[in-house]
Formats: sequence, C-alpha cells, structure tokens
Amino acid sequence: MTHFHFSLRHHDAGTAARRGEFSTPHGTVQTPGFMPVGTQGTVKGVTIDQVAASGAEMILGNTYHLALRPGHQTVRRLGGLHGMTGWKGPILTDSGGFQVFSLEAIREINEEAATFRSHIDGAIIRLTPEHSIEIQESLGSDVAMVLDHVVALPAERHEVIDAMERSIRWARRCLDAATREDQARFAIVQGGLDVELRQQCASELSSMDFEGFAIGGLSVGEPPPEMYRITEATCPYLPAEKPRYLMGVGTPVDLLESVARGVDLFDCVMPTRNGRNAMAFTDQGKIKIRNAVHREDIRPLEASCPCLACRHSRGYLRHLFVAKEMLGPILLSIHNLTYYQRLMAGVREAIEQDLLGEFIASKKAGWASSPS
Ligand code: GUN
Ligand code: ZN
Repeated sequence: MTHFHFSLRHHDAGTAARRGEFSTPHGTVQTPGFMPVGTQGTVKGVTIDQVAASGAEMILGNTYHLALRPGHQTVRRLGGLHGMTGWKGPILTDSGGFQVFSLEAIREINEEAATFRSHIDGAIIRLTPEHSIEIQESLGSDVAMVLDHVVALPAERHEVIDAMERSIRWARRCLDAATREDQARFAIVQGGLDVELRQQCASELSSMDFEGFAIGGLSVGEPPPEMYRITEATCPYLPAEKPRYLMGVGTPVDLLESVARGVDLFDCVMPTRNGRNAMAFTDQGKIKIRNAVHREDIRPLEASCPCLACRHSRGYLRHLFVAKEMLGPILLSIHNLTYYQRLMAGVREAIEQDLLGEFIASKKAGWASSPS
C-alpha cells in the first residue's frame, strides 16, 4: 500500500522510544504523537482551527457514535468525516468494539457479531467486523481500527482467552472485508493482564497485513504499573517497522512511560474532559481553577504556553467557571490540548537527542511540585 508509510528516524539511546513519521493520504504525523478525541465529529468544545492551532496533527472519531447519529451514510453524503468537520489532516476511527463495551450497551457477543442497544433510542443494533469496516469506509477515515472484543477486568482466564482469540479472528475478517486502498487498517492486541496471552496475540496479528498495531484493553481501571508491564512486554512482539498505538491512554505520565516502552501513538479524552471539569495540566502539576486561591491571581496557567487561555489570568479563568460561562470549559480544553501537544513535541526532541530518560525525570520533578 503506497498511501501509507512509517519511517523511523531515530531510536532513543537509553529507552525503547522511537522517533518516527507516519504518512497518510491527508498528511504526515510526527511520532510519538497524541490524537485528540472527536467522538461525534467534534473535539468537544473547540473548533477545528483551535485543534490545529494546539499542534495536533491527527484526530480520532468513533464508529459507534457516528453510525448511530447522524448515520454513516449521512456522514458520507456530507463529504465524509473530513468534509463534514473541515479537518484537513489524518483521521483515525475506532471500530465500535470498545464503545459497546464501555457504554455497557452489550446485549450479546457471539462469533458473528456484537449485538447492542443504542444509547440514543434503544434500537437493537448488530455490529459485525465486516459492518464496522463498511461504516469506517463510509466515514472516510485514514485509519480504520479492527472490531475487537474487549472484556472487563478482572475476568476469568478462559474469558480473556476467548475474547483474545475472537479478536484475532475478527481482525482477519476486517482485513478480508476491506476495499479501500486509501484507508489503512490497524489491528488491536488484547489478552488482559496476561503477558503470555498478549505476546501470543501480538505475534499472530503481526503475521497479518496490517499497517499498524494497537494495544487495547488497557487503562480500564488497572494500576498504571500493570499497564506499563503489559505495554513493555507486548511492544517487542510487534513489527518494529510499523506504528504502535496505545488506545485510550492517558495521563501525561502514562504517555511518557509508554513512549519509553516503544509506543508511537496515543488518544485520550483527558485533555478535553478534564478541561471541561475545570482542571488544567501544567509543568508544575494540575491546577483546579475553581479553587479560591486563584481568585485574584494575575498569572496565566503557564507563562510559557502560547494558547488562547494563557492570554488571560488564572483569576479570570476561575471567574468564568464560577459564573458558569461556556468560555471557561472552552479555554481550559484549548490549554490542555496545547499542553499535551507541547509535551509530545518535547518528547520527540528529547528522543532525537537521546535524552528521553532525563526529560521524563525533569517532567516528573515538575509535576511533583504540584501547586493546587
Ligand atoms: N479504546 C481504548 N481501548 C480500546 C480497545 O481495547 N479497543 C478499542 N476498539 N478501542 C479502545
Ligand atoms: Zn495555555
């Protein structure tokens, strides 16, 4: 497939981190990179221009939500996700497997399909691997994720094995169903918190013709060291020359720890969700902007930050939240998106200089100095 290419520019000398570039029909993504989440065809609270200004190069959309509303045929007639949203860069769509799991909408999962109830109108919907690919082809994303079977942890070992094996069979069906040359397919490794299962799953998926490989089923409530352990054990079993994507992760420290273990791509709702909830990320730790200590604080959230929020004082931002003005959540979302992108830019630079370990140590020291 000539529409997609991943080139590795440098390996960090002290960790397993990689510095790469993933090119797609809608442009190139510098890796390690972070994708803001645009579940319903919008990164919540911000315009497409603001997403781009934050430094983001690739965004994520959701098959599950968009297929239910407005419907993938409607999205297609509105010009696909790119035409509908105006986002010019690469887009990755998740397959629906995880949303069915996390929204507890599941009615039944069998070999053929996941059957669930719509959270919008209660309608019964059947999602097969083939249908998930068909929907994602209508959405016109650059990268389609395979439909996978995610189990809630902790689970019985036999349940984890069944879901993992089904995810492998479904990955094959997704590949076979695909028709678009201008859309890449990424596989998803499952296997719970069992290293042996993870490595077996990664090996089997690696033998198939995917353009990239994701690690799924993590950041679902397990302690972070468990997630790092699984990521560290899984990455060496994935093809070195293909991008690796850790799904739904995470906090700033999760990103650093996972990059150091060989992950290239991330997505998470955290910057926007926490921003809407009055929490800002900074190099000195998290700021809860509603806190009264910020009432007359004339400083911006972060002196070095070029974002729209940081043109204002903490006191003003606090006022916006206390007064329930919609600009408050908008500005903090913009700041947090910018914070995540600047963090990843720092990560990329540190890798190029073989200094990722030092970079991580200095970020952690700053976050530990936590103000409020
Ligand atoms: N998003 C976060 N985790 C997962 C996962 O395991 N599978 C899918 N499809 N999406 C995810
Ligand atoms: Zn800012």
